[in-house]
Amino acid sequence: MTEHGQLHDAAPAAVPDDPAIVMRGVTKIFGPDPEAALALLREGRSKADVQAETGHVVGLDNVSLDIARGQIYVVMGLSGSGKSTLIRHVNRLIEPTAGEIVVNGEKVLDMTMAQLGDFRRNRIAMVFQKFGLLPHRSVIDNVAYGLETRGVGRAERLEKAAHWIGIVGLSGYETSRPRQLSGGQQQRVGLARALAMDTDILLMDEAFSALDPLIRSGMQEQLLELQSSLNKTILFITHDFDEALKIGNRIAVLKDGAVQQVGRPEEIVLNPANAHIEEFVRDVNKARAIHIRTVMEEGAFEPCEMAMPADARCEDVLPCFDQHEWVGVLDGTGRQIGRVRARQVIKALARYAPSNGQA
Ligand SMILES: Nc1ncnc2c1ncn2[C@@H]1O[C@H](COP(=O)(O)OP(=O)(O)O)[C@@H](O)[C@H]1O
Ligand SMILES: [Mg+2]
Repeated sequence: MTEHGQLHDAAPAAVPDDPAIVMRGVTKIFGPDPEAALALLREGRSKADVQAETGHVVGLDNVSLDIARGQIYVVMGLSGSGKSTLIRHVNRLIEPTAGEIVVNGEKVLDMTMAQLGDFRRNRIAMVFQKFGLLPHRSVIDNVAYGLETRGVGRAERLEKAAHWIGIVGLSGYETSRPRQLSGGQQQRVGLARALAMDTDILLMDEAFSALDPLIRSGMQEQLLELQSSLNKTILFITHDFDEALKIGNRIAVLKDGAVQQVGRPEEIVLNPANAHIEEFVRDVNKARAIHIRTVMEEGAFEPCEMAMPADARCEDVLPCFDQHEWVGVLDGTGRQIGRVRARQVIKALARYAPSNGQA
C-alpha cells in the first residue's frame, strides 16, 4: 500500500493488497457538456478558470485514493471542496465524468442497475449529516429499516435493531419518535441504523457536523470505541481539521475537487504539503503549547531512549519523533512517569485546538 503523502498518484498505479475502496483518476464535471470542460481541466486550468470559461463546475479533479480495509479514512476539506461529490461516487449516486471506482474488488461503474441495487443494500451503509430518519417511525423501526428493505423478517430485524440501539446507548428509547430525541440522540439512531446493516463499509458524510461541540466530541469517542471492535472500513467526511486528526487513521485533504495531501494525521501536521494545509495546521500549532504531561500515557514503561521533562511543551517534543518512536516523560527528580508518541500527541492536540469550541 502506498504510505506516502503524495498526491495525484497520476499513473494508473498498482492497486494495493485487497483495498476496500479504490478511486483512480476520478473527475466529475457538473454541466451539460463536460467534455470541453474536462479538456481544459486536463490542460491544467483551475476550477475557477473552467467555470468562468465554460460555466461548468469542477466537482472532482483527478482523484486517486486507496482506502485500506479496517481503517477510518477521513476526507477533509472546506465547504464546496468536493467531499460529498467524492463519497457519492463510492456507491455511484454520482457517475464520474472520467475515472474508475473499485469497491471490494468490483468495478462500480460496470454494475448493472440490479447489481447496483444489491450492492447498495448489502455492501455499504451510510450515515447522513441531517440524520435522515423517518419521522413517523419509532426509533426501533428506523434502525430496522435497512434490514426491512433487505427482506429480513420482522422478529429478526427487531432483535438486531434492539441490539444496536443498546450499543449506541439508546436502550429505553425504542418506541420514541425521532422528534422526541435530541440531535445527538437522533444521530445515534442514524449510526445504529447503519451499523445494523452489518456491512464492511460505512460511509459518513459530515455525520457529526450538525452537532454541538460537546455532543460531537462524545460521538467521535463513541465511534472510535466502536471501531476498535468492529474494524470496519469507514470513509468519514468532515470540514473540521480537528475532527479529522482525532478520528482519522488516514486523512486526504481536498481543495477545489483535487487531493492536496494524503497521510497519517501526524504526517500532515508535521509536514503540511502546501500553504492551504499549513493554514489548517496553524490552529493546531497553537495547541502545541500544551505540556506533554497533559497528553502522556501515564505509567512505568521501559525507559525510552529519549526523554523530556513533564512540563516541556508539545511543540518542543514533536521534532524528537523524527528519530524516536517514543519519548519518555520525566518528573522533577528525573524519574520516568510516562511516555508519548507522535500519533497520540497530535490526536490529543486536536482536542485542544481552539477551533472546536472546547479549548
Ligand atoms: N448537482 C450539482 N450541480 C452543479 N454543481 C454541483 C452539484 N453538486 C455539487 N456541485 C458543486 O461541486 C462542488 C463540490 O460540491 P460538494 O461535493 O457538495 O462539496 P462539499 O461536500 O465539500 O461541500 C461545489 O462547487 C458545488 O457547488
Ligand atoms: Mg458536503
